[in-house]
Amino acid sequence: MKNNYEKEIQDLLMEMTIEEKVGQLQQCGPSLVGAFDVSFEELVNMVFDGRISKADFQNIMSSAKHDFHEEDLRAGKIGSYNGLNDAKTANELQKIAVTETRLGIPLLFGYDVIHGYRTVTPIPLAESCAWEPELWERTARIAAEEATAGGVHMTFAPMVDVSRDARWGRVSEGAGEDVLLSSIYGAAKVKGFQGDDLTKEDAMAACVKHFAAYGAAEAGKDYNRVDMSMQRLFEEYLPPFEACVKAGARAIMPAFNDINGIPCSVNHWLLTNLLRNQWGFDGMTISDANAIAECVTHGIAENTADAAKQAIEAGLDMDMTSNAFSETLVKLIAESAVSVEALDKAVANVLRVKFDLGLFDHPYQTSEEREKAAMLKPAYRSLAREAAEKSIVLLKNETLLPLKPGIKLGIAGEQANNRGEMTGAWAIKADGEDCVSLIDACMTQGIDYVYLEENTVIPEDCDVFVAAVGEMKNQSGEAASRASIELPADQINLLKKLIETGKPVIALLFNGRPLAIPWVAEHVSAIIEAWHPGVEAGNAILNVLFGKVNPSAKLTTTFPYASGQCPIYYAHMNTGRPGGKSKFTSKYLDTPLVPVYPFGHGLSYTTFAYSELQLSEGQEGVTASVKVRNTGDREGTEIVQCYIRDIVAKRIRPVKQLVDFSKIPLQAGEEREVVFYVPYHKMGYYDMNMRHVIEEGEFELFVGGNSVDCLSNKFLYKPAIS
Ligand code: BGC
Repeated sequence: MKNNYEKEIQDLLMEMTIEEKVGQLQQCGPSLVGAFDVSFEELVNMVFDGRISKADFQNIMSSAKHDFHEEDLRAGKIGSYNGLNDAKTANELQKIAVTETRLGIPLLFGYDVIHGYRTVTPIPLAESCAWEPELWERTARIAAEEATAGGVHMTFAPMVDVSRDARWGRVSEGAGEDVLLSSIYGAAKVKGFQGDDLTKEDAMAACVKHFAAYGAAEAGKDYNRVDMSMQRLFEEYLPPFEACVKAGARAIMPAFNDINGIPCSVNHWLLTNLLRNQWGFDGMTISDANAIAECVTHGIAENTADAAKQAIEAGLDMDMTSNAFSETLVKLIAESAVSVEALDKAVANVLRVKFDLGLFDHPYQTSEEREKAAMLKPAYRSLAREAAEKSIVLLKNETLLPLKPGIKLGIAGEQANNRGEMTGAWAIKADGEDCVSLIDACMTQGIDYVYLEENTVIPEDCDVFVAAVGEMKNQSGEAASRASIELPADQINLLKKLIETGKPVIALLFNGRPLAIPWVAEHVSAIIEAWHPGVEAGNAILNVLFGKVNPSAKLTTTFPYASGQCPIYYAHMNTGRPGGKSKFTSKYLDTPLVPVYPFGHGLSYTTFAYSELQLSEGQEGVTASVKVRNTGDREGTEIVQCYIRDIVAKRIRPVKQLVDFSKIPLQAGEEREVVFYVPYHKMGYYDMNMRHVIEEGEFELFVGGNSVDCLSNKFLYKPAIS
């Protein structure tokens, strides 16, 4: 049960000056000083356009001093910091806040802990392919244990943006294209980060982002505008956020984009009507980085003061690093342009989260000793390996895998021998040297291998080639949209050269998004989708290659045939002219109708057969049972998926929609009955007035091992007459 701190909050508000109140809404990051004359953004641009190397950048960063704006902190002008990641600094700053400010209100430290802190686990898109909520929660828990030891109180995660356009770099940060999966994933992460008692020192508040519909950025271009119907917003983009609010998330970050022409940071309907009034959210909202001030560039505010006024009146509580609130709110209040009531509401929301976290009683939640002892524990590493093994998707296998012990591997491709690349995007505390690359793992596990450097003659004594291809980690994540998601020519050439030897070739994919790989799918013997798998990358990959682990992951995102097919996703509407052979149907002239790999696809070293799908309609829901048999000769785990379709409704409905799933281990030859109970409310939709309705009529229910190959049966839903 959550405690109620409303009296304490009101008492504090009575004591606070306007300046102190505004201070609580200010989150600042440490500024870099001393080492160079340009801004941090300019420095990043210099690496980006090649004016300085990555190594130069690292050198500059490590020699730069940080300015923590201590004078402002002492004056009560700072409520929170973003980007600190060490216990010593956190405690020093906390000490100033607690002992040197007039009211001693503790600071809140926020940080992007997206897929692990020091023990980096697979990128979220990868981990979602495990279809395992307990795993999602456990990895979030260890992330919280490490991050809180490093002084962090709140993570800017989970990201629950449903993403259906592979060109968008941030698809790597979320759970893929499905609404239900993103909802379950988000709720599991919230529980894992926050634990069962937020006041505990190893519990970290979850800030769910990016509210809302950021995944629908036009053309997959980051920061781009979003334009969509309310039907789509309510059915496809909002449910994961609502699920996270229900799971108790203490913070929400509005997205950079607009909804219906109003940027989310200043969107009153979104931040107040929906989030607070309808969903009953009582945590804090915090802007995305600089987003309030950027409302001027967006063309929705005349100047920073106008942006600040619009934001606070819309229901935005904390300003992440744009200084819009700190520079303008005191004056706006003095001029009565913004009400004290609006200010108090925002401050109360921030204080409530600080109370929830127990910061008033225990402002110093960590120590340098705890920090030292907390990182990269053996149990964390082994969980990271388990997560990677459960995230690796076997996309194709022409009976080559698993490999026989003792064979000689020829390994090619930079990512096979690059530890730092294994962390993927958004692993800012990670030390790449903690990671095990494929080559490291081959060495420690005594695998017979040769690593092919560029331009070496391909040795003749290799039995099988493994080519690491895909994309580098900085090609996905924020500000990493791509117009073309095909493999580059040099990677295709490498594969061709290896194939020409006549030996089997395995494409080992490292990437943060679906890639368009029709040529690879046709020409290589096997494809392993490793994503960016984290610290235990090499060990997990070897375990899959040699069959110590039987792969079980299934795609949570569709692999298109070409970039031009994006966005592509399984839960699409039918249209009046679904793609078909005839010319006048919905399709491209130059790609097949179907993607290369559909949502839900993923192979195993065994095979599964489905039979006897039976449905029975009850009062509140339909029960489906199906028999699943392991038809191969080794044990394996199958992810059984259940979809429905509303055949005729007053609004158009998706051709299939995931409503449940079950992950089951099966011994060789074993058969099990899997039962799904689908409550009728899961089959509903939003009508023209955004009321959730379930319509009487015929539905189709599908069960299968991916979104395409399913058994199906129809049933009739008739509401009970009360
Ligand atoms: C990103 C957020 C992130 C924030 C803080 C922004 O640029 O959009 O997802 O949490 O930076 O680092």
